[in-house]
Amino acid sequence: MIEPNGTSAVLRAEFATKLGQERRSEWLAAFAEVPREHYVPNFFQQDGRGKWHEVSAGDPGYLKAVYSDAALTTQLDAHGIPTSSSSEPRLMLTMLDALGAEPSHRLYELGLGTGYNAALASSRLGSDNVVSVDCDPDLVHLAQRRLARGKYHPLVFAGDGAQGCPERAPYDRIIATAGLRCIPPPLLRQVREGAVVVAPVGFGVARVVVSGHEQATGRFLSVPAFFMPRRTPTKGPDFAGLECLNGEATEVPATDVLDRLKFPLSLALPGYRSCTWRDEAGEVTGVGLWTEDGSTATVHVSGRARQTGPKRLWDTVEELASVFPAGTPLREDFGLTVVPEGQRAWYREPGGPSWPLPTA
Ligand SMILES: C[S@@+](CC[C@H](N)C(=O)[O-])C[C@H]1O[C@@H](n2cnc3c(N)ncnc32)[C@H](O)[C@@H]1O
Repeated sequence: MIEPNGTSAVLRAEFATKLGQERRSEWLAAFAEVPREHYVPNFFQQDGRGKWHEVSAGDPGYLKAVYSDAALTTQLDAHGIPTSSSSEPRLMLTMLDALGAEPSHRLYELGLGTGYNAALASSRLGSDNVVSVDCDPDLVHLAQRRLARGKYHPLVFAGDGAQGCPERAPYDRIIATAGLRCIPPPLLRQVREGAVVVAPVGFGVARVVVSGHEQATGRFLSVPAFFMPRRTPTKGPDFAGLECLNGEATEVPATDVLDRLKFPLSLALPGYRSCTWRDEAGEVTGVGLWTEDGSTATVHVSGRARQTGPKRLWDTVEELASVFPAGTPLREDFGLTVVPEGQRAWYREPGGPSWPLPTA
């Protein structure tokens, strides 16, 4: 059962007003206009024990959650891992603002998901100026129906969003709403000079301006961002392969990878995953890291590190700890430069410490 329209309209207006008190933005009218619940008729919420529960229109708290600043998980895979969501509206607004888009601009989105962002973009830029792609055909089908119900008709289709849509190029603006390891090179071949690209790279959001053929540079926004990764096949961790190793002593606290080095690590080891082990009191006792080639490391809080596989993951953490010996480096002090030969993330200035990003 859908809650009465009045309730949705009131909550939506209140939410848009609240966003407007925090910042001025050309996008607030779109947030006030587009009903988020049309795009998120149900979502999944995790209880204290990690079990997922579905919350649907009409359930207690449904509309309140829809008009809160929550990311709402809308799809889980067979293992209960989230594969699609509607991102936090405040983060969406920050990313849309960072585009600096004007109503005549043509926008390409990687990651259609629920279609809510495509609806906001269609509302402000006009449906004809919006193209959005998702790798999941079922999501595309649902989003297309929802968009049409809202009288929005952007071009949406199923495919690998990293390939773009050359038929509608050149684009003035590009936004990605799935986690990336670099700015996809095919997208950089489908933009005008001066185009702005806003994309989650690692655990941050990069904003770069295109200055020529496959050339762009810019900085990361100050906001943290943990987007679900662009879907690619990956190997799992090889914890069994570590059992026979004694390990080596390390001075770097295991928990550094969970907090202060988390963002630089996402640039130095693109696509890495992590897990923790905890004692009965909930304190972290160990941290595991792995990358898609099967490289794996574990570190015990006592200061013993074990690593196996083609890449020595803990060595990378130790290198980062020597670049950032104390404190948490700010995201906005990092930048990203694209040239035809490749892409690099850097700290403070393009000539500072830097990490190549994989573009293959
Ligand atoms: C955070 S959700 C996107 C949210 C969306 N913009 C919205 O407003 O609901 C990320 C989406 O990226 C999609 N995705 C992941 N890998 C992709 C790829 N290679 N190409 C296109 N879409 C992809 C996922 O299926 C998921 O729906």
